[in-house]
Amino acid sequence: MAWQKRLTLGEFIIKRQRDFQYSTGELTRLLSAIKLAAKVVNREVNKAGLVDIIGAVGAENTQGEMQQKLDVFAHEKFVGALSNRGVVCGIASEESADFIPVDSGENDGPSKYVVLIDPLDGSSNIDVNASIGTIFSVYRRVTAVDRSVAPADFLQRGDRQVAAGYVVYGAATLLVYTTGIGVNGFTLDPSLGSFYLSHPDIQLPKRGGIYTLNEGNYNCFPKGVKDYIKYCQGAGADRPYTARYIGSLVADFHRNMIKGGIYIYPSTRRAAQGKLRLLYECNPMAFIAEQAGGLATDGFRRILEIEPTGLHQRVPFFCGSLEMVQKAGEFMRNA
Ligand code: AHG
Ligand code: MN
Ligand code: MN
Repeated sequence: MAWQKRLTLGEFIIKRQRDFQYSTGELTRLLSAIKLAAKVVNREVNKAGLVDIIGAVGAENTQGEMQQKLDVFAHEKFVGALSNRGVVCGIASEESADFIPVDSGENDGPSKYVVLIDPLDGSSNIDVNASIGTIFSVYRRVTAVDRSVAPADFLQRGDRQVAAGYVVYGAATLLVYTTGIGVNGFTLDPSLGSFYLSHPDIQLPKRGGIYTLNEGNYNCFPKGVKDYIKYCQGAGADRPYTARYIGSLVADFHRNMIKGGIYIYPSTRRAAQGKLRLLYECNPMAFIAEQAGGLATDGFRRILEIEPTGLHQRVPFFCGSLEMVQKAGEFMRNA
């Protein structure tokens, strides 16, 4: 299909705005701000080897992880784009210990939305030119609009998300998002600077041939996960599955969305709650997976039904093709 016939992301967002009852265009402006920040981060990622953006800042984030320059850059760009446009009333970021209240500025009135974001996912892949990403999640605030935002506005169950999405800065740059009526993907044409609809109504295959986890941690995995890996490896030439692991959740998740597969970051002996963050990584990916016909659990419970207790809380994560996640759940229950 010629690009002239494709919808741009901007056109698509406006078209979808009509699907929302009482829509004021606020969510449209919010998604446009995310789109803009994604382009700015993409520009920097694309010349990462040429400018002084590779490597560590020399500081740790609130979870004791070494911050990379691109982590900080992406955090600043997303927070800047969202707060300068007054499209949110608060932001929580993986790179910030506490949430950030935002004034409504010159806008029509205070915004009712909060955004939770992993500005740069896959930090360990920055220096080696492998795919990295951004993950975001949008909620309606639950406290009164004329007050400053409070923890309760951010600590909401995943099934209350209004929108969620991710950007993959890969071979091509792709933005995939949902507002609860299916999942759509848009590819950036770098020469035009516009995202075009390239993956309409993505459906996650009910079962696939890929299992994705860091098998280097095998000895520390719970028995159910070990058993499930053995099941995937099968016997001899009949082995039904193959393993793929990039180490960037966004890239690993996106591949499995398209091809069918399961992504697992389980609890380990060293990290009882695994590594991934419920609010910045698991909830948005779970919402997207379910909207595409897939499933996400912590091995036992649906991710979207977990009641959050802390901004940076972690959770074991099993996500992807419906039948594969259900099968892994069987192994967890029977272990
Ligand atoms: P982040 O770069 O935002 O800290 O996230 C990294 C996450 C995730 O993207 C990836 O799937 C996982 O860490 C990889 O962890 P291991 O290196 O332990 O496999
Ligand atoms: Mn991440
Ligand atoms: Mn990150």
